[in-house]
Amino acid sequence: MKEIGMGRLQGKKCVVTGGGRGIGRGIALAFAREGADVAVIDRMGDNARQVAAELTGLGVTAIAFSADVSDETSITQALTEAERQLGRVDVLMNNAGINTHVSLIDMTVATWDEMIAVNLRSVFLCTRVVLPGMIERRWGRIISTSSQLAHKGGRQLTHYAAAKAGVLGFTRSLAYEVAQYNITVNAICPGPINTDMSLVGSPEWKAQKLLELPLGRYGEVAEVAPTVVLIASDEGSYYTGASFNMNGGDVMI
Ligand SMILES: NC(=O)c1ccc[n+]([C@@H]2O[C@H](COP(=O)([O-])OP(=O)(O)OC[C@H]3O[C@@H](n4cnc5c(N)ncnc54)[C@H](O)[C@@H]3O)[C@@H](O)[C@H]2O)c1
Repeated sequence: MKEIGMGRLQGKKCVVTGGGRGIGRGIALAFAREGADVAVIDRMGDNARQVAAELTGLGVTAIAFSADVSDETSITQALTEAERQLGRVDVLMNNAGINTHVSLIDMTVATWDEMIAVNLRSVFLCTRVVLPGMIERRWGRIISTSSQLAHKGGRQLTHYAAAKAGVLGFTRSLAYEVAQYNITVNAICPGPINTDMSLVGSPEWKAQKLLELPLGRYGEVAEVAPTVVLIASDEGSYYTGASFNMNGGDVMI
């Protein structure tokens, strides 16, 4: 799918966590095509640097950081430095995440804690770094990647679905707090998207998921990123506390 940049994010300073591959990379590219300068943060630093190089090739400023979004020191340092180098952060895309499939009966506390730390705690850690600057400037966009599983749940996914549902609660609550500063807070809830993450899970799980999907196929990264550009842009100014469901009809709400 071809995206045509119309400069809808011209001059905006954006951060994408988990931007080293998959959905995050697609969003970072879409931001850059619309004229934004972008900081790509990923615990896979080489991937982040590679994506930043791709963005630079599009004519914008792009910087890369290797950091762990679940680690307070690591992510605070990276975001503070990103903010310093970009001059400010207008758009924070909380996208980094992990997925594992484990029945609750077999789940260790460590597995549960890691899932909540990477997929939910991270959203709090990242947001609180960039929020003061957004409040000062009276403009900001906080966007987080939840999942259709936040609505629907899924077998062997209690930890993942709980974390992603937590992201929606965070989004709706913060939206109330910061609306007065012209800052919007929204979430996206993609259905199954063809990325490395979608390789997690058994062939049976995938077969069942395909049967459940009205559109009968997994989505593509290019079917997620345009909505994020809309939310991040000035055109998205009246969305807040919302969740956007590009999910192939998996959950119809
Ligand atoms: N692919 C799907 O079907 C799907 C569906 C719904 C939601 N999501 C969500 O979309 C987001 C992106 O997923 P994806 O499919 O692109 O997966 P992916 O595994 O391809 O990419 C995730 C990226 O996040 C990075 N990351 C993971 N843990 C990190 C950490 N602790 N610190 C910093 N970076 C970290 C990884 O290195 C990777 O580059 C995730 O939040 C995921 O839960 C994915």
